[in-house]
Amino acid sequence: MPTRATHTSLLSALRPQNQDRLYDFYRDLRDAEDLYWDRHLNAWVATGHAVVSNTASDPRFSSVRYPDIEAVSEELRPLVRVLSRQMLYSDAPDHARLRALLSRAFTPRAVAALRDRISDTLDQIITRAAPTGRLDIVADLARPLPLAIICDLLGVPEEDRPAVSSWSDPVAAAIGSSRLDADESRAASQSMEEMLAYLRELLTRKDGPPAPHTLRALLDTGTENPDQDFDELLANCALLLIAGHETTTHFIGNAALALLKHPQAADQLRDRPDLIPAAVEELLRYDSPVQLMLRRARHDLDLAGRSITAGQAVLLVCGAANRDPAAFPDPDVLDFQRPAGRHVAFGYGPHFCLGAALARLEGVTVLEALLTRLPDWRLDGAQPRWQRSLNFRGLTSLDVAFTPPSEHHDPGTQVSATS
Ligand code: HEM
Repeated sequence: MPTRATHTSLLSALRPQNQDRLYDFYRDLRDAEDLYWDRHLNAWVATGHAVVSNTASDPRFSSVRYPDIEAVSEELRPLVRVLSRQMLYSDAPDHARLRALLSRAFTPRAVAALRDRISDTLDQIITRAAPTGRLDIVADLARPLPLAIICDLLGVPEEDRPAVSSWSDPVAAAIGSSRLDADESRAASQSMEEMLAYLRELLTRKDGPPAPHTLRALLDTGTENPDQDFDELLANCALLLIAGHETTTHFIGNAALALLKHPQAADQLRDRPDLIPAAVEELLRYDSPVQLMLRRARHDLDLAGRSITAGQAVLLVCGAANRDPAAFPDPDVLDFQRPAGRHVAFGYGPHFCLGAALARLEGVTVLEALLTRLPDWRLDGAQPRWQRSLNFRGLTSLDVAFTPPSEHHDPGTQVSATS
């Protein structure tokens, strides 16, 4: 009997009534036991901050998500073969080797150089929406912006980006789902195969020397090593493209919703823009785009007093850990002046998010733009809805209304007109 009490399954987080009160649902789980056996998911579920961060960095656990590829359904197997070669789902020494290679695309200089590009893209998006006084923050901004930026960084031409997005979505949906039917599995496998075929063609194009940091530049470095497998490189390029935008999309939507629901917090940032980088961290903690990480016990072991059997999975619920009062006093309060550095929204340990600097830069630039250019924004229309996923937390749409700039009261004009 692996656990002491009978628990509600984490799967109940997907019930519509729990999506809007997700963090209360997590609190109830954590209060019952911060690590328990979930018989519906056939996995341990960890909701406490200490157990989540310790396990994420504990070498007794593996990040291999699919230890037996043949046990996966035939429809899903092509996708799983590719995922299994990605660094996110690998352990040392493969993980360290791949991470060293791919991190060359994310040097601080390469990321900082994207600042103007991010601002320009945002400027275009907001300028286009401004005369209408309406914006769907998810569809019009949070989706296209991170996709454009990761494709810029990695050298994916503009005309190919809609295809990248259409392949990425079914794969992200498959990764985020706890149960897939045959059609969804087939669609995700096929999308991954199409993305790889595209990357193979892109990376072998011979049209001049590659720009620094792009996938072609990575490929050249990768192939300096005669043992480097081309398919493994392609699998990891696909990881960068998918991880590089799906998560940031959710972050922008969730952060905007939190600010819309806390207008005083938004006003605080308008008065004190120096707090925006801290606000990005707090908003990541408050409503984390990635809710789950998975680890597997390499051998029989003891974790926080529970006996874990070799091969058992532990689901690390980052979203719950980030609301644990033991780590964050008054965890349900949005507080931009909290001591920094403890949230696990970007994970913890050797797999800590490789794109964190880029995601932070995008977050800061988006908040600055939204807060200054849409000063009176407000929720417009129906209550925003959450995507149905245990892994990812993101909105399907976020409609806001604001006063078009020409209708703003302009004190400067007013003074000259009356004087
Ligand atoms: C707000 C946005 C983002 C969030 C919340 C986020 C979250 C995470 C988390 C939680 C992990 C750790 C997973 C684990 O340990 O199992 C991770 C890993 C990773 N992320 Fe992100 N991420 C974001 C943006 C990005 C971006 C922009 C990129 C750019 C390509 C990226 C690329 C990666 C990669 C490659 C890994 C695997 C690292 C490794 O295995 O060593 N992420 N991310």
